[in-house]
Amino acid sequence: MISAAKSFIFCLQFANVIAGNLVRVPRKYTFRLSPGFNSSLAGNFVDTTNVEPAIATVLTSAAESPFISYDVEFDCILGPSPSIHLLAGPVDRDFALEGGIYVKETNSVWFTGIGPGEEGHVVRALNLSDNTIYRPVNDSLILRPNGGTYYQGKIYIAFWGNRTVTGGVLAINAHTGETETVVNNYFGLPFNSPNDVAWAERTDPRSGKRRRAMFFTDNDFGSPSLLNETGLPLLPSTVWRFDPDKEYLQPIITRADIPDPNGVAINQDATKLYVSDTPVPYIRGEGIGTSGSPAIYVYDLTEDLMPKNKRLFSFSRSRIPDGIKVDKTGRVWTAEGEGIVVRDTLGKVLGVFNDKVLLNSREGDISNFALFDDRLVILAEERIWAVHLGQRVR
Ligand SMILES: *[C@@H]1O[C@H](CO)[C@@H](O)[C@H](O)[C@H]1NC(C)=O
Ligand SMILES: *[C@@H]1O[C@H](CO)[C@@H](O)[C@H](O)[C@H]1NC(C)=O
Ligand SMILES: *[C@@H]1O[C@H](CO)[C@@H](O)[C@H](O)[C@H]1NC(C)=O
Ligand SMILES: *[C@@H]1O[C@H](CO)[C@@H](O)[C@H](O)[C@H]1NC(C)=O
Ligand SMILES: *[C@@H]1O[C@H](CO)[C@@H](O)[C@H](O)[C@H]1NC(C)=O
Repeated sequence: MISAAKSFIFCLQFANVIAGNLVRVPRKYTFRLSPGFNSSLAGNFVDTTNVEPAIATVLTSAAESPFISYDVEFDCILGPSPSIHLLAGPVDRDFALEGGIYVKETNSVWFTGIGPGEEGHVVRALNLSDNTIYRPVNDSLILRPNGGTYYQGKIYIAFWGNRTVTGGVLAINAHTGETETVVNNYFGLPFNSPNDVAWAERTDPRSGKRRRAMFFTDNDFGSPSLLNETGLPLLPSTVWRFDPDKEYLQPIITRADIPDPNGVAINQDATKLYVSDTPVPYIRGEGIGTSGSPAIYVYDLTEDLMPKNKRLFSFSRSRIPDGIKVDKTGRVWTAEGEGIVVRDTLGKVLGVFNDKVLLNSREGDISNFALFDDRLVILAEERIWAVHLGQRVR
């Protein structure tokens, strides 16, 4: 276990030897630019123009760098000689979009997306031993898969279904590929577009009693109002909690609190729940709309694994935050309009893996990634990248 304090000291030892593809943006520039600066929601912060020459130079080189540091702790996460490697692609279309699930049994990263020759979303995996892509499970059983997670030998995938088959959450055995439905309705009402799933497990130190729960998000993105792949919603957008021991499913966060729940994550000791809100106007590039923020909210989890104390953790500068992962020091990693953004436990931006480089300047969005050991594997639509980090983060 690396404590944040320890990693900070470790970092200072080589903070000045990082070279090459990392650009540091001095703190004085991030919230105080000379009047007349020009920046927009459609671009990234590094695309800001009409600024003083010194910052213009920094932003221009940052725009071309895969690593943009806003804090020395980010340099530390990367290690002394950060580099990025292409593992797969480029291929056509939206090949690697969602999921980003590291499966240790097969040393692979499972993801979902639309590969060449495929009609819709399917599950694929990248074998990290030889960088080949393979089909880890029988697709015909999984309609419109989206986000997922790994928990105790199984891969859990949130899937939309279609107009006739209701979506929900599936569990796939990592060894056998055997697939079972965990949930697909609430007292007979189907979900609309289950999006992401996370598990919490915690043992009460006094009673020794183990509690566990599965959290997943459902919104209406599959409905005719957005992608038109599922039917009209019969349940409001909700964050759900499933207790596998009591076999009980219940809604725990309403759309009054989070209008369009999307990414969901739990920290390592299962004391916090993170959920992102993803307003449709941001997804469509139509500006800020009139309700909801592209926010990451954090809740404390009680001993019963119930959320309380909602607070705004942060929000994405552009487009929406998705693919949330919490590392073992409590830092929060999300896929956003700027790329993969890393924040400290209080929500301060430490650095960014730059989407302009990762997407090769193509229009698009990075929605998810895998984070395990000292590795970050980024799903950048047409490409899959890997970064060896300077420390073990998960
Ligand atoms: C601001 O930048 C946008 C494009 O990034 C450009 O279309 C616009 O003309 C610029 N405005 C000014 C005042 O420079
Ligand atoms: C991954 O690649 C290695 C090396 O080619 C191979 O031995 C292994 O069986 C592959 N794993 C899967 C799950 O396909
Ligand atoms: C996949 O599952 C379907 C439905 O159970 C079955 O008909 C099909 O043969 C399976 N395909 C493979 C390659 O196992
Ligand atoms: C939904 O998927 C099932 C299983 O693949 C298929 O039989 C059915 O025709 C699909 N429904 C629609 C409306 O596409
Ligand atoms: C949604 O898809 C259905 C079935 O393909 C089609 O009849 C309908 O017109 C579509 N609705 C919208 C709003 O595109």
